[in-house]
Amino acid sequence: LTSSFPSLSMTLVAVKPDGVQRRLVGQIIKRFEQRGFRLVGLKMVQVSEELLDQHYVSLHKKPFYPSLLRYMTSGPVVAMVWEGHNVVKSTRMLVGDTNSAEAMPGTLRGDFSIHVSRNVVHASDSTEVAQKEISLWFQCSELIDWECCDHGNIYH
Ligand code: PPS
Repeated sequence: LTSSFPSLSMTLVAVKPDGVQRRLVGQIIKRFEQRGFRLVGLKMVQVSEELLDQHYVSLHKKPFYPSLLRYMTSGPVVAMVWEGHNVVKSTRMLVGDTNSAEAMPGTLRGDFSIHVSRNVVHASDSTEVAQKEISLWFQCSELIDWECCDHGNIYH
């Protein structure tokens, strides 16, 4: 699960059930495409509690964990892998603060969400976590290393 370009990294982004139900998937994908990142994996999944227990392994004891599980299993999630320079950090900036009330306008949460319990999108918070999350959510065969034929006009 390494990028074909050594200086590039990958991150997991998931449009949560509220984002899918509110028809925000296209707008969310657009933000990443227009920034110049490359989409290398994409699928819609009805997430299992088993996967969420692994994904949110550090949160099991949090008082909000049962409601987080109910929320994340309330409908399908659109999971994506994006690749690019500093993609993990840039994605966190695009997504905005976890607490929607603190998220700046212009960020996904700042534009589309008002509460942490319905914050529309998940993004890996470090490159190490991104590697673990990508391996958890995607098989290697589901990541596509497509080439662009732009003669240097698009970031690699
Ligand atoms: S914590 O408490 O600092 O570990 O939490 P944080 O790192 O900020 O958030 C971890 C994920 O938990 C979600 N979260 C919540 N979900 C539902 N209800 C409440 N009250 C709540 N608080 C935090 C938060 O959105 C993070 O989810 P992801 O998917 O990682 O964005």
